[in-house]
Amino acid sequence: MTLASTYVEPALPQAVGPVSAAVLDMVQRRPTLHSRPVDIPVADADPYGLDLQLALYVCYELHYRGFRGVDPRWEWSPMLLHIRGRLEDAFLSAVRRDVGDIDTSAADEMERISVEPVDGDGPSYYLRDRGTWEQMREYFVHRSLYHLKEGDPHAFQIPRLMGLAKAAFVAVEFDEFGGGRADALHQQLFADLMVAAGLDAGYLAYLNEVPAEALAPVNLMSLFGLHRDLRGAAIGHFASTEITSSPGSRRLVEALERMGAPQACAVFYREHVVADAVHEQVVRTDVVGDLVAREPQLDADVVFGIRAHALVEDRLADHLMACWTAGRSSLR
Ligand SMILES: [Fe+2]
Ligand SMILES: [Fe+2]
Repeated sequence: MTLASTYVEPALPQAVGPVSAAVLDMVQRRPTLHSRPVDIPVADADPYGLDLQLALYVCYELHYRGFRGVDPRWEWSPMLLHIRGRLEDAFLSAVRRDVGDIDTSAADEMERISVEPVDGDGPSYYLRDRGTWEQMREYFVHRSLYHLKEGDPHAFQIPRLMGLAKAAFVAVEFDEFGGGRADALHQQLFADLMVAAGLDAGYLAYLNEVPAEALAPVNLMSLFGLHRDLRGAAIGHFASTEITSSPGSRRLVEALERMGAPQACAVFYREHVVADAVHEQVVRTDVVGDLVAREPQLDADVVFGIRAHALVEDRLADHLMACWTAGRSSLR
């Protein structure tokens, strides 16, 4: 198997408004270690909008691979962290407001989301039943932001877990990271899918083309991942991705078969039909079950993480369906 060519540090994106312009302008200079606050118009920005989401994405990416031409020391610049904190505050407040009160237990919530609606109407149903290959390729582009770093945002939880929760969590992540084989890394399977679909498999190659709705799901993972305070939400998010992945992946396999897509495209989703059915059980009982037994005060946070995942995924799904049913591209 040939490994899709990639590079370590992606290119910086183009600014799309005053907030992202301020962040992008800053990180192209020499990093400063003093903490003089910089005034940027966060209060005027839509927390789900492209300008704020792109600015936040750039801040977070410094903790993953960074950007070409950006000094890696910006990662811990107090000045940039101050700005990131304000962006996070705006985003998290909006998500908390839209998720609303938590009125159930993590166990009940996981039970609820493990039951699939028979007559769902999201993008995977649409692609299975009547979507075009062009729309499928757009779907790959939106998802490339996450799948080319699949497993990474959740991996920040490892030092924060202990006992069975840690052992089971790492067992699932081991599969995400290819079980010791570079060609089986889920990130690599997705890169192979991109190449097979005639798309750019480069890390963040489409950062200038995806809308805010595709950035928010990855920003949410980074937000949860980088704050120990939000570890319950991070584990809830992880549980939600594993529980909902298998049936969704099955529909995408069916869609790809109907479209006569290249085999490498179906490989990625087929892997998730099988693996995530197993992961779901491990996550429910061993990861979440052990975590909340040890830290019962995190139970509501786990539910919040599950619902926040659904919230940002629904926003992306609504965007895709609105564009596709109107015959428009869902990319910028
Ligand atoms: Fe995966
Ligand atoms: Fe999985």
